[in-house]
Amino acid sequence: MARILTGIQSSGKPHLGNLLGAILPAIALSKEQHNDSFFFIADLHSLTTIKDPGLRKENINSVAAAWIACGFDTKKNTFYRQSKVPEVCELAWILNCFTPFPMLANAHSFKDKSDKLSNVNAGLFVYPVLMAADILLYDADIVPVGKDQKQHLEMTRDLGITFNKKFGDTFVIPDPQINSQMEIIPGIDGKKMSKSYGNTIDIFQSDKKLRKNIMSIQTDSLALEAPKNPSTCNVFKLYELLGSQKEIQTLRKSYLGGNYGYGHAKQELFELIVKIFAKERSTYNELISHPESLEKMLNEGEKKASKIARYVLSRVKSKVGF
Ligand code: ADP
Ligand code: TRP
Repeated sequence: MARILTGIQSSGKPHLGNLLGAILPAIALSKEQHNDSFFFIADLHSLTTIKDPGLRKENINSVAAAWIACGFDTKKNTFYRQSKVPEVCELAWILNCFTPFPMLANAHSFKDKSDKLSNVNAGLFVYPVLMAADILLYDADIVPVGKDQKQHLEMTRDLGITFNKKFGDTFVIPDPQINSQMEIIPGIDGKKMSKSYGNTIDIFQSDKKLRKNIMSIQTDSLALEAPKNPSTCNVFKLYELLGSQKEIQTLRKSYLGGNYGYGHAKQELFELIVKIFAKERSTYNELISHPESLEKMLNEGEKKASKIARYVLSRVKSKVGF
């Protein structure tokens, strides 16, 4: 049996990049019979950037609803909010005291974020240590994440290995699982799709808004008659991630044949998204309008998560002499 663990920050509504890069591959793994999965909402991490309490609650519900709408089975697995298992903060503090300063100062994600933000807080700096605590607290074996999280997983392993060397076997050392085909999903401007770049596609919004969102994907300005290059087009790149081989070949031919505009291709992409995510979109909207059912699922998961967290934390505390 392998324990699979991953988290999504509640820093906005989940987008197509989160779904394809993290949520769907993680759910596929959770369905394998021998896997025991711990999927959570990283709401403490979201405090590094989001300060509005109302928005935080809204985002927590959106992320929770996305997991369930995409098919996560909360009976077989463990589903929880990070903040409801406060042992993670205690473990993060212990790990902080074993984390070399340069490891954090050289983290790509800290450098990226601190270059962009006017207000850089200490939480952003120690973000990777809280993430290591998320993983090590639950004896996780495998952590499915997008490629952008690779360095955070390396730090987690380093911290776990160093601690084990000093105090004897304490932590399970996790392996990242990065879905190579879905490495980086492009956003509507062709850069990595990310909430922080404002370039996302939100598949859960209404048809009208989703269509408008897709129509805003950036393309070149070739005339309708001109043949078009599928491999440099953002619309085609997204279509290629979602369509069947036959659908992709048909669209490729239309691009190469000319007399086919980007507006047509965007309409095809819109229709494909509506078709393949029909069930997920309707379940998501149902859950968002009935947050009590989400609350119940989370409460049950939090009881299960707390038991393990208490057990692992006491193991760690006894090693360091508390
Ligand atoms: P964002 O960049 O929008 O803030 P998060 O950092 O909350 O996204 O990412 C949550 C999960 O989704 C992570 O595992 C991350 O690797 C994955 N992910 C986010 N954006 C993408 C993307 N564009 N392509 C692939 N995976 C992504
Ligand atoms: N840092 C991750 C992200 O931004 C979210 C996260 C927090 C996470 N804790 C985790 C992912 C533990 C995997 C395991 O995407």
